Amino acid sequence: MDAYLKVFVSGPAAAVLSRPNPLRHSGFDIDMVIEKRVREAADVVGLSLRRAGGGTLPSWRPGAHVDVFLPSGLQRQYSLCGDPADRERYRIAVRRIPGGSGSAELHDALEVGDRLRIRGPRNAFTLVDAPSYLFLAGGIGITPILPMVRAAGARGQLVYTGRSRASMPFLEEIGAAGIGSARILPDDECGVPEVAGILAAAEPGAAVYVCGPPPMLAAAQRCAFEVNPTGSLHTERFSARPVVDGREFDLTLARTGTTVRVGAQETALAAVRRVLPDVSYSCRQGFCGSCEVGVLSGAVDHRDRRLTESARAQRISLCVSRAAGDQLVLDL
Ligand code: FES
Repeated sequence: MDAYLKVFVSGPAAAVLSRPNPLRHSGFDIDMVIEKRVREAADVVGLSLRRAGGGTLPSWRPGAHVDVFLPSGLQRQYSLCGDPADRERYRIAVRRIPGGSGSAELHDALEVGDRLRIRGPRNAFTLVDAPSYLFLAGGIGITPILPMVRAAGARGQLVYTGRSRASMPFLEEIGAAGIGSARILPDDECGVPEVAGILAAAEPGAAVYVCGPPPMLAAAQRCAFEVNPTGSLHTERFSARPVVDGREFDLTLARTGTTVRVGAQETALAAVRRVLPDVSYSCRQGFCGSCEVGVLSGAVDHRDRRLTESARAQRISLCVSRAAGDQLVLDL
C-alpha cells in the first residue's frame, strides 16, 4: 500500500493528544535487491529485500518504515513487517491501489533480482512499554502491527479485520505462529467491525495500537478514552487526512500557464495531479518532502511538518498546505 504516517497518542491521563511526528530527516540510503516476491493476499505482494552486494542492515524496531525509491523516480513509504532480528533482510508488503502508480510499479514491473534504493528505517509509530497491548489492524494495516504483536508476546492480543480472508495478508503466518491470540474478523463473515466493542476488550492500562482505514482510526479516536480511560491509544494512518478548514483557491503552474482550481475539500496535490498525474508525492501527510515545489508568488498557509522557516518563504508541500489567499503560482 502506498504508505503514510501519522501518530496520535492518548496518554495515561487519557486526554487524546496529537503530537508532531518524531521526524528524522537524515537516514541511511541503501541499495537493495529484491530477494523474494510472495503473493500475500489477493492484491498484496510481499517483497524481501537484501543489501545489494550483501551485508548487514541497520537495526529497526516494530513500527518502523522505509522510504522506497522506485526505478521510475517515484518515492513511497512502507512499513517493515519482517523480523527485526533478521539483520540481513527487510520485508515490506504492498497492496495494489487502484490507480496507484507506485504500487503498480512494485506489483507489475519489478522482479526478483531487480534493485531498489531505500532510505531509513525510521519510526514514528513506536511500541511503548505497557503491561498489556491490544492491537487492531485493518487490511494492509497489519504490516506495522505484525512485528509489534510478535514483540509483545503473551502481553498482546490481536484483532485483525479486512474485507475478506482472501484480501488479508499474513493470515497463514499469524495462524501458524498462534500470534497474539488473534481474532480474525473478515467483513464478509462477521460484518463491519464495531471498534468500540473491540477496544473495550483491552485490559485496564493497556496500550492500544490501531492501524487501518480512516473510519477505523476515527472510531478509535472517538471511543478510546471512554472504553480504556487508563490506557493509551496509538494510531498510524496510511492515507491522507481530510482537509480541515479548507477554502477554494487557484493554482497556476508557471511552466505551462495552466491554472487549476483547488476545491475546499481537496488538497493542492490532488488538484495538481488532475493536470500533472506524475507529480511527485509519497506520504501525503506533510512530512516526507517529496511533494515540495517552489512558489513564485502568493502567500502560503503552511501545514507541513518539514519545511524550515526560511524554506517556507519559497516552497510549499502540496499534499497538505494551501493558499492563504486566492492564488498561488508554482514553479511547476
Ligand atoms: S507527500 Fe510527503 S510531504 Fe507531501
